[in-house]
Amino acid sequence: MPDYLITWIHLAAAIALIGGLMFSQFVLTPVARNTPSDSRASEIVRLSGRRFRTIAWVSLIVLILTGAYQMLNESGAARIETTWGVVLMLKLFLFVIAFGLLLIHDFIIDPYAPSSRDAPPSASSPTVPARADTLQKAVIVMTLAVLLVASYLAEI
Ligand code: HEM
Repeated sequence: MPDYLITWIHLAAAIALIGGLMFSQFVLTPVARNTPSDSRASEIVRLSGRRFRTIAWVSLIVLILTGAYQMLNESGAARIETTWGVVLMLKLFLFVIAFGLLLIHDFIIDPYAPSSRDAPPSASSPTVPARADTLQKAVIVMTLAVLLVASYLAEI
């Protein structure tokens, strides 16, 4: 497959992941929060969260596969010992943190599990537990940091 197609898939996966996280955090959750609690808002947030979780993890796997391909292809492997390689390691370090935080959010806290419907609402959000909300914000910050380092990487 041509390199430009691999880059395109890598970028599309990054857009799907970061765009979806930001939509959830800055559009869906605030709208649900400002909707009367007797509405179906909580259920819509929960079902959207579950659906997006699949998209997010597929995007992460695609990012790892296409990123590894770019890393190991001829010019990439040859540059591993250079400044480019060091910046790439920084990018991977930030990515691992984002990955770990999302893992905790999705599979340990699991705010969109069916049982959480019956959980008492938190003070900051009637639809998503406060811890999960904070964790999702942290994932957004980390993925944006990865994006920043990636933009720099593309320049050097
Ligand atoms: C949130 C996760 C990620 C984001 C937002 C992201 C974003 C990007 C962006 C914007 C580029 C620049 C494409 C270009 O202009 O050529 C890029 C390139 C690249 N990415 Fe990622 N990426 C992510 C994860 C990964 C992972 C997990 C790996 C490694 C396994 C990886 C390895 C690479 C490599 C090797 C390049 C090529 C850099 C170059 O040509 O100088 N990325 N990435």
